[in-house]
Amino acid sequence: MGLINLSRFILEEQRKYSGATGDFSLILEQIALAGKIISKDVSKAGIANIIGEADSLNVFGERQQKLDLFAHNTLVYSLDHIGKLAGMVSEESDKIIEIPTKHVEGKYLAVFDPLDGSSNIDVNISIGTIFGVYKKLNENIDGCTEKDFLQPGCKLICAGYVIYGASTMLVYSTGNGVNGFTLDPSLGEFILSHSNMKIPHSGSIYSVNEAYYDKWDTKIKKYVEYLKNFKEREYKSRYIGSLVSDFHRNLLKGGIFLYPADKKNPDGKLRLLYEANPLSFIIEQAGGKAIDGKNDILRKTPQSVHQRTPLFIGSPFEVELLKEYMSTD
Ligand code: AHG
Ligand code: MN
Ligand code: MN
Repeated sequence: MGLINLSRFILEEQRKYSGATGDFSLILEQIALAGKIISKDVSKAGIANIIGEADSLNVFGERQQKLDLFAHNTLVYSLDHIGKLAGMVSEESDKIIEIPTKHVEGKYLAVFDPLDGSSNIDVNISIGTIFGVYKKLNENIDGCTEKDFLQPGCKLICAGYVIYGASTMLVYSTGNGVNGFTLDPSLGEFILSHSNMKIPHSGSIYSVNEAYYDKWDTKIKKYVEYLKNFKEREYKSRYIGSLVSDFHRNLLKGGIFLYPADKKNPDGKLRLLYEANPLSFIIEQAGGKAIDGKNDILRKTPQSVHQRTPLFIGSPFEVELLKEYMSTD
């Protein structure tokens, strides 16, 4: 079987599903382009003096890394002039990003974490970009408002991530399964390398930052202790500190990633719109589960675009078990 590059795959998908339109395919192609551009700069961050801190803070008061802003600008410029979007939300921008009046507007919305795992940029550990695409609520009204972005994750029409690791991969779903593409830098093409990805029903990995153990809810402490002493198999702890990397490894090998709420972060640290929702869309398409401790992530209606949420995501066995622990008195 010959190489299936991303463009061919998108076209074949478009033919298979009558609902798919060329509009949306162009958005995906442009996100892939942004991924290639960011990948090129990530791979030479050390010499392209884009490592290190910018002199700005994001909406969370977190010092922005230069590569965060580079990735943010790359995504915005790849998407704002193609006439398919009505607006965007980015972790790196307080407000909604409007489409400039000089450009034609579209009916889609993009949400993204331009660079996930920023703290790992300077130490050469894999990082990523997370994205999601929605349709706006009312196509007959020009522009978009914050309300358009407050749709539950189950309304996503596409979600995915790019992981800048030993190789650069694009993994995405449009609601008909999950597929992974590996970038061949010599061709500049994303080539289908992981068809119809499914997470194992159970795994032997749990990913959580145990430095916060003392701040956790007792039920979380009991759950992690249970995994550590599990009889049928030995669990390993793996925690990279880049959500995309921890997620990607668990998608392939099985297991659970946990970022609980704690005394310091009562709503958790991760953002619902552009971290939890896109990855929860993918994990459900891959046969896994994602909850905030009680409810499915994808069924939560966001109240604000930068809202945080606790996140427990991975194999059905480990996530269901956690749900049981969280529901005990
Ligand atoms: P970002 O770099 O986009 O702000 O995301 C960082 C997130 C996520 O990638 C990772 O899982 C988490 O922060 C790690 O947080 P801790 O350092 O508190 O464990
Ligand atoms: Mn992030
Ligand atoms: Mn980020």
